[in-house]
Amino acid sequence: MTIWRLATRVLDSARLLRGLTGRHQSERGLQPGEATIVIGKNKKPVGVFCDAGGRLHAVTAICTHLDWELEFDPGSQAWACPRHGARFATDGAVLSGPARIPLTVTAIPEQLRETRSPRPSAG
Ligand code: FES
Repeated sequence: MTIWRLATRVLDSARLLRGLTGRHQSERGLQPGEATIVIGKNKKPVGVFCDAGGRLHAVTAICTHLDWELEFDPGSQAWACPRHGARFATDGAVLSGPARIPLTVTAIPEQLRETRSPRPSAG
């Protein structure tokens, strides 16, 4: 692993941790048009997008071209790969290459389900 790749991973991890522990986000959850990346149960990043109706959509946030972590582009409402520029729709469909394989649709991570639908307290 190169120093540059290691530094990128450290910065990505810091960003992901902010997303998991961000007070602002955890208090209000995702709003329509917003997205975030969280670490799923399998330790892989999961991209979660909130559509206009408030429904969450989750995809594996790893580019299908060469396994680079994706970022969300709020301007175009798409997942974008910073490495070679592939773009994916929020449902995982390929919008532009070089990736040819869609993202895998996955379950909504538990931490986001809980912020949108708090469990009733016992008693
Ligand atoms: S790794 Fe994503 S486009 Fe190449």
